[in-house]
Amino acid sequence: MRYTYLAIGLLVRAITGVEAQSQTPGLHSLFVASGKLFFGTATDTNLFNDIPYMTIANNSNEFGIRVPENSQKWQPTEPTENKFVFANPDQVALTSKANRQLLRCHTLTWHSQLPEFVQTTNWTRATLTAAIQTHISNVVGHFKGQCYSWDVVNEALNENGTFRNDVFFQVLGTDFIPISFAAAAAADPAAKLYYNDFNLETSRAKADGAARIVQLLQDAKVRIDGLGFQAHLDVGRTPNQTALAATLDRFTALGLEVAYTELDIAHAKLPATATALQQQARDYVSVVGSCLAVARCVGVVVWEFTDKYSWIPSTFPGKGDACLFDANFTRKPAYSSVSSFLAAAAATGAAAGTNGSGAGGSAKVSKTAGAFGLAATTGGTSRPSASGAGGTTEGGDPAVESALARSGAAGRLFPIVVMSSP
Ligand SMILES: *[C@@H]1O[C@H](CO)[C@@H](O)[C@H](O)[C@H]1NC(C)=O
Ligand SMILES: *[C@@H]1O[C@H](CO)[C@@H](O)[C@H](O)[C@H]1NC(C)=O
Ligand SMILES: *[C@@H]1O[C@H](CO)[C@@H](O)[C@H](O)[C@H]1NC(C)=O
Ligand SMILES: *[C@@H]1O[C@H](CO)[C@@H](O)[C@H](O)[C@H]1NC(C)=O
Ligand SMILES: *[C@@H]1O[C@H](CO)[C@@H](O)[C@H](O)[C@H]1NC(C)=O
Ligand SMILES: *[C@@H]1O[C@H](CO)[C@@H](O)[C@H](O)[C@H]1NC(C)=O
Repeated sequence: MRYTYLAIGLLVRAITGVEAQSQTPGLHSLFVASGKLFFGTATDTNLFNDIPYMTIANNSNEFGIRVPENSQKWQPTEPTENKFVFANPDQVALTSKANRQLLRCHTLTWHSQLPEFVQTTNWTRATLTAAIQTHISNVVGHFKGQCYSWDVVNEALNENGTFRNDVFFQVLGTDFIPISFAAAAAADPAAKLYYNDFNLETSRAKADGAARIVQLLQDAKVRIDGLGFQAHLDVGRTPNQTALAATLDRFTALGLEVAYTELDIAHAKLPATATALQQQARDYVSVVGSCLAVARCVGVVVWEFTDKYSWIPSTFPGKGDACLFDANFTRKPAYSSVSSFLAAAAATGAAAGTNGSGAGGSAKVSKTAGAFGLAATTGGTSRPSASGAGGTTEGGDPAVESALARSGAAGRLFPIVVMSSP
């Protein structure tokens, strides 16, 4: 399928009412017009009182998926053994649903942000296995049907590709990985299950380790659907689009979908010079472009969209300004470059797989993207029919369709992107 230039115009028209006439398509709308499923952001309830922030975060033209930045992790959801707390992540989920955005859910088995009991109990294999299963069945069970995907195991690897010597590995060896994925699969059969880590983009040894994790699960016949590339990158040290796409392709070749899940690109020195801002813009385009070039790359999530709330300055003092919007919510050169790049790609149908003959899985991605993303861009007014043809609601990916149905977005689907077969 090829998306015609008309798609952009229709996209603009489809975004509610009068103001839509002047509203340019946001990043999510543009990515969807290029055949992808989402462009989204991390966010959390501690920021929900910031009105200018929320105005952007709520805009499904800009962001079609949200990820709770912290509130769904083990410590906040099960601070005391067997006592579960969901008020904050529930609020993120509700807000996503109200704004017709998908939800990526994050994260289950991870060495960091653990409650004290996980770190201090003298576990046996049996008791830690039970604790992992209890945590996952309760948390995934609670959000069942609301998550497009779950980051099931997070950051299990050292930089050299060996396993991190955390409590899970110490007690269970690598078995904690299939135990976690099997528990998640049982608790929500429709959610896509991901392994998620950082520096896979830049470290061959670490990417080798991730490939071994995939292999380990596949050998054990335990389901894994996706590989999450966190993409916490540095300005001027980001691999080019070709190199990034080759790394993504390693994992699609293993039968997985891939996504950039926590993208930010930090300046080493602040304030950033004009030259550095341009380099940051090129680096963002390399990352987004590599997703566009790989048919089974389903989308990109930024780890906060504004420098005001980036985690980087507090974690890496001296570094920062890694986001697409500055601290005053002004769009930076990186935003403009990504936006123009995506507008051009959507207009020419340049994305991998959008012509229906790309790599495996392309048709699936573009079909469901067409169905979903459009729903996510709507504001509740009547929808124009771009072509009169159906085709966007049929036969998509069950995980997406069920997430949509349960998020209330199903039934709001409408065709917006004109497709023509070559
Ligand atoms: C964002 O969306 C939520 C859920 O619909 C709503 O309660 C909130 O008022 C919105 N905030 C802004 C600033 O639009
Ligand atoms: C942990 O439990 C094992 C037996 O399960 C026991 O041998 C060991 O002494 C315990 N360690 C501590 C620090 O309690
Ligand atoms: C890999 O890295 C870990 C953590 O830094 C280290 O403990 C281990 O010795 C390294 N292994 C090899 C084979 O280099
Ligand atoms: C991209 O980066 C790779 C690895 O550094 C390099 O070999 C290749 O020449 C670069 N390609 C382009 C088009 O710059
Ligand atoms: C944000 O606005 C304030 C007040 O106008 C200004 O002092 C500050 O430099 C601005 N910050 C950025 C990153 O532009
Ligand atoms: C469709 O995509 C494939 C694979 O990317 C490419 O080889 C082919 O030339 C494309 N066909 C058209 C008509 O663009």
